[in-house]
Formats: sequence, structure tokens, C-alpha cells
Amino acid sequence: MTEVTKRTVSEYKNEAKYGIPQGTSESGICRNHCCREEQINMEILRVEHLTKTYGKGQTEVMALNDVSFSVEKGEFLAIIGPSGSGKSTLLHLLGGVDRPTSGKVFLDGLDVYSQDEDRLAIFRRRQVGLIYQFYNLIPVLDVVENITLPVLMDGRKVDKERLEDLLTTLGLQERRGNLPNQLSGGQQQRVSIGRALMNAPGVVLADEPTGNLDSKNSQEIVSLLKLSNQKYGQTMIVITHDESIALQADRIIAVEDGRIVRDERIRG
Ligand SMILES: Nc1ncnc2c1ncn2[C@@H]1O[C@H](COP(=O)(O)OP(=O)(O)OP(=O)(O)O)[C@@H](O)[C@H]1O
Ligand SMILES: [Mg+2]
Repeated sequence: MTEVTKRTVSEYKNEAKYGIPQGTSESGICRNHCCREEQINMEILRVEHLTKTYGKGQTEVMALNDVSFSVEKGEFLAIIGPSGSGKSTLLHLLGGVDRPTSGKVFLDGLDVYSQDEDRLAIFRRRQVGLIYQFYNLIPVLDVVENITLPVLMDGRKVDKERLEDLLTTLGLQERRGNLPNQLSGGQQQRVSIGRALMNAPGVVLADEPTGNLDSKNSQEIVSLLKLSNQKYGQTMIVITHDESIALQADRIIAVEDGRIVRDERIRG
């Protein structure tokens, strides 16, 4: 049976309307008692022989070299490795941001790169939440407008309850009308997390989400990601240079020269 026929019509309607992953209610709370423990052991992501080269001839760089692994639903995975080892390249390929030179990425059974550009853009908005190191906020939009942008771009209605829930969880209630340049670095990063979580994506991909923050703010951001991982059963894949953050994950993958050199489960 294909992935498509296994899912109910209402699940598809919910997903089309709200961008809610399977097994999650409109408020984002798991409705099938599919708590974290039950979700583990269900594969959500599979990467097969992924290779990415940039440039041609003498300037060619092999950023990823035959990478394969899979991730279970609800897992909190840290990706570590030296600068230039291919971490961001990998994350972008997982999120449908760039196309691989060869190899495949499957998310919830869907062959991500079998889609044309239009479908890939919809996939990016609905299925994954991307958190960038340098926030990538729109300077002329306030906190609420930045957070709700992907929903509005998708032509959908903002789930006001979810928005308020997120603003409270992120400690941004008082700052809702502020522009990015009126916010601290930690607050800006929390806005970018809100934007990534607003669509309730099944998978959240974060590239050095604490790279520019002090240790107190860094721990706050990690706690938020862990809370979202546990509350909504979201799969979290987080690139970090910070060992104390990596050690809070369920599993650590180490990348070097475009290859996985270590893959270690540390809890769960
Ligand atoms: N658009 C691009 N064009 C050409 N080369 C690129 C491009 N993007 C990345 N690279 C190269 O690919 C390799 C991997 O880059 P990547 O950004 O994935 O590394 P990284 O592990 O995320 O590093 P950092 O920790 O510094 O962010 C590097 O050698 C980099 O110079
Ligand atoms: Mg990087």
C-alpha cells in the first residue's frame, strides 16, 4: 500500500488547511496518544547516497559525499563537524532548499526531489520548518507578521490560538508589534523559531540556532526546541558547534569532509 492510500481524507484536509502533520490535532497536540516514545521507531526521514558538488573543474567542491542515514519520528538529532564539512549543505538538502547532485531524500515516504519547483516550494512551506543561524527575518515586518508570513504566503488562515500559544511560549507577547531591529539577538532568534513552528511542521531543521547567542540565551533556545520536540512530537535536526547542546540530543551525527564519520545514539 502506498503512503497516499494509508492516510485518511480528513488527515489530508487538515494538512492542506493547517499544515498539520499526521497524528496531530489542530492545536498541535498529539491526538492519537502518539507520545514521543510511541513515535520513536517510525522512520520519518531517509537519506540515500546523497552527494552534492558545487562548481566545476578545478573549482569543484564535493560538499557531501555519499551520505546515507535515516531519522525516526520524534527524534532530536544533533549534527556536528568542523567548518566546511558539509553540515549546512546537508540541512538544506533535507529541507528541499537545494537539489542534490545525486542521491535521494525521502520525507514521510515522499521522494522530495521527484517534485517540480512549485511543489518543492509548497513542501518547504508545509512539511519542514527551517531555522537559520542569521535569523533571516524580514526587516519591515513586525514580530507577528514575520511569524505568520509562511502561512499567509500559502494563502491560508492564521490559526490565532496557535499564534498566541507560540508568542507566550517564546516570551514574545510584549514584543509582538516590534520590528526585528528593535529586538535583541535572542528575541530575533525566537521569532525565527516561531516562524518555523507556526505551520506545525513534522520536521524542524535548525542551522546553528544558537551560534550568535550567549550561553544563557543559547540554553533558552535549546529548551524551547526540546519543549516543542516533546509537546508536538516534532522531529528536530539541529546543527551545532556547542558540545553542551549536542549532548542534550538523542543522537549525534558527526560530519567530516562531506561524510558521516560517527553516528551515535546517546539516549532514547
Ligand atoms: N554555494 C556554494 N558554492 C560553492 N561552494 C560551496 C557553496 N556552499 C558551500 N560550499 C562549500 O561546500 C563545503 C561545505 O559547506 P557547508 O556550508 O555545508 O559547511 P558547514 O559544515 O555548514 O560549515 P560551517 O560550520 O562553517 O557553517 C565548503 O567547502 C564550502 O566552501
Ligand atoms: Mg554551515
